[in-house]
Amino acid sequence: MRYPLLLEESFELLETPYLLVDPKQVVKNYRRLIRAFKGDVVVYYAVKANSHPEFLRQLNREGSSFDVASLGEIMKLIRLGVRPDRMSFGNTIKKPKDIDTAYTMGVELFAVDSEMEIDKIARYAPGSKVFVRIHTSGLESDWPLSGKFGTDVEHAASLVDWARFRGLKPIGVSFHVGSQNYNPKNWEIAIKDASKVFNEAARRHHIILDFLNTGGGWPVKHTKPIPSVEEIASTIEDSVRRYIGSGILIATEPGRYMVGNAGTLVSTVILRSRRLGKDWVYIDAGVFHGLMETIENFRYEVLVYSKEDDKKKVFTLAGPTCDSVDVIYDEVELAESVTEGDRVIFVNAGAYTVEYGTSFNGIPSPRVITVEQLKTLSELNKTA
Ligand SMILES: Cc1ncc(COP(=O)(O)O)c(C=O)c1O
Repeated sequence: MRYPLLLEESFELLETPYLLVDPKQVVKNYRRLIRAFKGDVVVYYAVKANSHPEFLRQLNREGSSFDVASLGEIMKLIRLGVRPDRMSFGNTIKKPKDIDTAYTMGVELFAVDSEMEIDKIARYAPGSKVFVRIHTSGLESDWPLSGKFGTDVEHAASLVDWARFRGLKPIGVSFHVGSQNYNPKNWEIAIKDASKVFNEAARRHHIILDFLNTGGGWPVKHTKPIPSVEEIASTIEDSVRRYIGSGILIATEPGRYMVGNAGTLVSTVILRSRRLGKDWVYIDAGVFHGLMETIENFRYEVLVYSKEDDKKKVFTLAGPTCDSVDVIYDEVELAESVTEGDRVIFVNAGAYTVEYGTSFNGIPSPRVITVEQLKTLSELNKTA
C-alpha cells in the first residue's frame, strides 16, 4: 500500500480523527481532466466536495471555474479572490436573498429546473444566463442524485421558453449522472436526452442553445474498478458530436474526482468488543464525523495501519457517538488482530467527508491538515 507523504509522522503529531490532504494532487487531477478533452472544456469544480481554501486557491490559480451551491460557498470563493463570473450557481433550489446577493456580487450563471426558480431569478437576477437541468436515472452510480433534481425533456424545453419570456438568457442544458458513476455509457444516455431539449428549443421556440453542462459523477478508485478520466471525456465529446453537433461549449462539474484521492482520513480504534455474536470495532471517526456517505453504504478502502497484510476477519465498524445510526459498515474485513490504539485509514477520502462536519455529541469534526502544514509542524517539533 502506498500511503501519503508523512502519514507515519502525522501519527506522532496529531490527535485523530483528521484528514491529511495534498493540494498538489488536486492540481494534477485538474490538469489530467483538461488534457483528457481534445476540444475546449470549462471545468466548474463542485465546491461542496471539499471547500478547503488551499484546494480552492490552487484550482483558481489553474484557471478553474466553480460550481457553487449556496451564498456561503460564493463568499468563501470571493474572499479567496475568485471572480464571480467564474462561478455557476448550480443548485436548483436557491433562496431569493441568495440569488439577489449573488447577482449583486456579479454571478451571471444559474441552474433551474422549475418555473418558480426561473421567476425568482428573473426578479432578483434580471437578464442572467440560465441552464435547465434534466433528470437522469442515476443508474450505476453510488450516490444517485435523481428524483430531487432535474426535469423531463419536454418540460425542460418549455422552461427554456419560459426563461426567455421572463427576460433571461437560456443558454443550455445540464444533468448529473449520479456521483461515483461507474459507466461512461450513462453520460452518453444523458447527452442523447439533452439533445432532445436542444432540438425542441430550436424547433418549437426558435431558441438556439449552445451550452451543455455534463455535471459531476467522475469516479474515484475505491473498492471497484472505475473507468478512466480519458474514457469518460472521449465518451462525452463523441456523444456531443453525434447527438447535438458542433459549436457546443462543453462544461463539467467534478467534485469527487478532483479531491477524492487528495485526502486520507485517519482514525484510531477506541474499542473492540464481542456482543450478541458479532465482533465490533469502534473508532473515533464515524457517520457524524467524516463518514456521512457510509449511511448509503458508500465503500471506502479501509486499512488497519501496519497490519495491511495480516489475516482478515469480518467486523462491524462503528463510530464514537451514543447513536445507533453511527455504524459505518455492518460488515467489513479488517486485520484479525485489530485492537485499541490501532490507526484505521480510509483511503481516497478527500471528498464529501469533512464537508459534512458536525460536532454531534460534543465530538469535533475531523480537522484538515495539509502536507505542507504537517511538514512545518514536524520541523517545529524537531527544533523544540
Ligand atoms: C450540481 C452538482 N454538480 C456537481 C456535483 C459534483 O458531483 P461529483 O462529486 O459526483 O463529481 C454535484 C454533487 O452533488 C452537484 O450537485
